[in-house]
Amino acid sequence: MMSLVTFLPSKRTYKARKGQNLLQIARAARVIIPTRCHGQASCLMCKVKIEAGAVGPPTDKEKRKLSAGDLKEGIRLSCQTIVTDEPCTVRIPEDRLKSVVQRALERQHMDQDDW
Ligand code: FES
Repeated sequence: MMSLVTFLPSKRTYKARKGQNLLQIARAARVIIPTRCHGQASCLMCKVKIEAGAVGPPTDKEKRKLSAGDLKEGIRLSCQTIVTDEPCTVRIPEDRLKSVVQRALERQHMDQDDW
């Protein structure tokens, strides 16, 4: 069974296998989701918002790490969120992306300074 996952804001889509988590799917789709803990449910940097469609229910870890209000709004930890066989649309918060891109650019500048 496949599940069509659409990532926003890039609108990139990916046919995922049921049972994969959103972080793995983003990697496969070459969509950047920042993480520091690499899927251990501890950095909380991989938060995304499920804007449409269906995904698996929140795990115990997510229930511990996210507020009830967040969960109600569809905020999830992408490393813990498993896709079902239904399509879903997932938004990656842009402020986070910006800061990651910013850091990458700064690193590049520093590398250039080394030359
Ligand atoms: S990758 Fe760190 S909490 Fe999901």
